[in-house]
Amino acid sequence: LTESLETWNASAPGWERERDFIWAGSRAVGERMVAALDPQPGETVLELAAGLGDTGFIAAQRLGPAGRLISSDFAPAMVEAARRRGGELGIENAEHRVLDAQALDLPDGSVDGVLCRWGYMLMPDPAQALAETRRVLRDGGRLAFAVWADARRNPWVSTFGRVYVELGHMERPVPGEPGQFALADPGLLRGLVEEAGFRDVQLEEVPLEFRFGSLERWWAVVLGLGQRLATATAALSPAERERAEAAVEAAAAPFAPAYAPPGLSLVVSARA
Ligand SMILES: C[S@@+](CC[C@H](N)C(=O)[O-])C[C@H]1O[C@@H](n2cnc3c(N)ncnc32)[C@H](O)[C@@H]1O
Repeated sequence: LTESLETWNASAPGWERERDFIWAGSRAVGERMVAALDPQPGETVLELAAGLGDTGFIAAQRLGPAGRLISSDFAPAMVEAARRRGGELGIENAEHRVLDAQALDLPDGSVDGVLCRWGYMLMPDPAQALAETRRVLRDGGRLAFAVWADARRNPWVSTFGRVYVELGHMERPVPGEPGQFALADPGLLRGLVEEAGFRDVQLEEVPLEFRFGSLERWWAVVLGLGQRLATATAALSPAERERAEAAVEAAAAPFAPAYAPPGLSLVVSARA
């Protein structure tokens, strides 16, 4: 968890730099989650692993002045970035907190809704995080979250990882370990949510598209969002780097010239 925390703190500037681009490509998923949550004026909504917090900020607008958004992340640098973002958007009913989703410093039954976009699959123990989510939700409260579908349905990011694994510059993801595609199996996902005590579990596929416009831009954005590719790239010798660049170019060629590779998220909603 400590290693992951350091990694996410280090990624915060990359996310903040690309915030408009990320949101333009991903808002469809955030909007779908908020529609599924259906927050009502006066309610309290908790966003976990909020990153820059944009999904929660859509909910905040629906909660009104009597409602409250608790926007949270375990990485303090992300929480600060979300605070700046919320200020820029003029959000006044949000509280920003550093919270680990696996051990929430919140009372039982204290929130009406929970949002978590692309968080649970990165956590060492998603079952524990979902149990914590259930604990802080009041009975009848609602959960809406997103995870990534299978790597093959997400060439916007898997194109590079696949090349690096093939060239031996990165380890193949180990099934069962936390990672971007760790909760991509719909059956497993549904079971996990039900075992945490949720009912009326709904799963929906939501497509998205990042319009990079060039390979250079695509590569730069993906390198800025996570540390795995960046660390692997920094460790390459000049000769290895040249080979990797050629392989990346070949793998990305099917998406030329627009370089708008597709992505697919699974949006899950459930009732506590
Ligand atoms: C892929 S980013 C998603 C950010 C944001 N939700 C979005 O959709 O743009 C994953 C986020 O999860 C956070 N995170 C990872 N593990 C966490 C944990 N155990 N508790 C809370 N946040 C966590 C990271 O700091 C990072 O901000």
